[in-house]
Amino acid sequence: MKRDLISLDDLSLEDIRGYLDLATHLETVPDERKLTRLPGAIMMTMFYEPSTRTRLSFEAAMCRLGGRAIGFAAADATSVAKGESLVDTVRTVENYADILVIRHPKEGTARVAGEISLLPVINAGDGANQHPSQTLLDLYTIQRLFGRIGNLKIAFVGDLKYSRTVHSLIRALIKFSHLDFVLVSPESLRLPTYLVPPPEQCMDVTFRETQSLEEAIQSCDLVYMTRVQRERFPDSLEFERVKDAYCLDADILQGAPSHLRIMHPLPRVNEIAYSVDRTTYASYFTQVRNGLIMRQAILLTLLGVAP
Ligand code: CP
Repeated sequence: MKRDLISLDDLSLEDIRGYLDLATHLETVPDERKLTRLPGAIMMTMFYEPSTRTRLSFEAAMCRLGGRAIGFAAADATSVAKGESLVDTVRTVENYADILVIRHPKEGTARVAGEISLLPVINAGDGANQHPSQTLLDLYTIQRLFGRIGNLKIAFVGDLKYSRTVHSLIRALIKFSHLDFVLVSPESLRLPTYLVPPPEQCMDVTFRETQSLEEAIQSCDLVYMTRVQRERFPDSLEFERVKDAYCLDADILQGAPSHLRIMHPLPRVNEIAYSVDRTTYASYFTQVRNGLIMRQAILLTLLGVAP
């Protein structure tokens, strides 16, 4: 049976640990050996929304495993511009590749693509819903930064309403235990309540809301910053009102605990000043690096190839 990567809800804790262990192992595999893992394999990238990291790191991951990447970075250069449906596009491009990677502004599109296609499908972000490959690389980063996933206090800051990276990561983290989440957002960008599970469904996980970034910095192990997602707002005036709600700079970090780490899925706009990049707290470019290895782990897993 083929395997997709569509939603964190589909993954057990064991599945997640499998991806983390494989990524850890891949760190030790020489580059020339990796090049022999997927010779002749073709990955199709179908990006209906802009991307830098996700598309290019999937492409680099496939190339470094000996395969090739083809696809589109914007739908307006394809027959979608002539009115072709998603169903027909998927049924067409699956003839040209071994695995599909799709990003789309509409929630649920990757799930539909996975149901239509005979090939493994990777959700590279569907609207404000989920971004599972980002979540796996975030978990890998947390594990490498702290030596564990659990027994941590984590602040999520900014656009908690529309950020699919936050939605995915919270869905994954609640499968682990001993976690305290601090949710820092403007009132209008609060985390949707459906993402907060009833206590009996998770092991020692708590949620608390605040509007104080300073308090979160002083009390948390990890601060996960997010961009306010302009493209998801139905009302541009509301975006203007909240777009500068949280801006982290080196001054705010004065006196922060030395073990604190700052993550961000990127791209950033103005929510983290460049002055933070030079501090020991900044871990967002570590995430970028970890994305390449985790996406290699994802491709090998879904294509059923041993490392
Ligand atoms: N983190 C992330 O999804 O980045 P891109 O939008 O550049 O792919």
